[in-house]
Amino acid sequence: MTADMQGLTAVVTGGGSGIGRSTCLELAGRGAQVAVLDIAVEQAERIAAEVRGLGREALACQVDVTSASSVHAAVEQVLDRFGRIDILVNSAGIYQIGTINDISEADWDRVVGVNLKGAFLVCKEVVPVMQRQKAGAIVNMSSISGRTKSMLAGVNYVASKSGVIGLTMCLANQLAADGIRVNCVAPSSIDTPMNANLTAEQVRQFEERTPLGRLGKPEEVAAAIAFLASPAASYITGDTLNVNGGIFMV
Ligand SMILES: NC(=O)c1ccc[n+]([C@@H]2O[C@H](COP(=O)([O-])OP(=O)(O)OC[C@H]3O[C@@H](n4cnc5c(N)ncnc54)[C@H](O)[C@@H]3O)[C@@H](O)[C@H]2O)c1
Repeated sequence: MTADMQGLTAVVTGGGSGIGRSTCLELAGRGAQVAVLDIAVEQAERIAAEVRGLGREALACQVDVTSASSVHAAVEQVLDRFGRIDILVNSAGIYQIGTINDISEADWDRVVGVNLKGAFLVCKEVVPVMQRQKAGAIVNMSSISGRTKSMLAGVNYVASKSGVIGLTMCLANQLAADGIRVNCVAPSSIDTPMNANLTAEQVRQFEERTPLGRLGKPEEVAAAIAFLASPAASYITGDTLNVNGGIFMV
């Protein structure tokens, strides 16, 4: 693995599980020190310990990305410890299955609140830090569900993930002059705790429709995120990178 992130500081929301966890480990493997932010603080502590096991510094912070004051406090902790933020990965997210008849107003607010407002609030807090540095890379988490019709996901999840693509393009355009790149990834079904409730039949159907014939692994999404955050992607901004085994091609 290249050490192209030596000395950089990365913040990963939702770093306590799944894709966020793999991203923390991937970025640490490339040399970054990592702030693991999650609402589940014990999980964040566990992943921070894994990062330290790779020989990198790590900080675990509890954050609720739907709360501006919680996000502010977490980012202050990161700055107290590391003094800068070079990479932000917004991986915190929640999922809901259902038709419009199943999704209540409260469900809408809850899912859009974490997945879309959460990414906005974290960017709003971190962007001024990157603007002062005149450098930074942000990777947001969309989904195949935000790009095309979804097999299972509710309208709240789909709208939040489409919204993340709009947020990404808007910020990429506004922040390019500050030396900040903003991109997002759009995974299909990845083998993480978020998909623990998929039935064997749902997995089989997904595998049948996917040219690469299987679910994705969280480390495969983490590799794409690390690429977008790295100097190798220096001329890429405002983009949405599919990580989907070929199930949806544009
Ligand atoms: N797993 C998939 O198939 C898949 C596919 C496409 C997109 N995604 C997206 O990838 C991201 C990560 O998903 P995952 O599969 O790793 O899920 P996961 O459930 O394993 O991890 C999500 C993490 O987000 C944290 N979190 C939830 N609400 C939070 C809040 N309010 N504040 C801070 N942290 C919070 C959880 O505690 C958890 O650690 C999500 O945004 C998800 O929508 C996942």
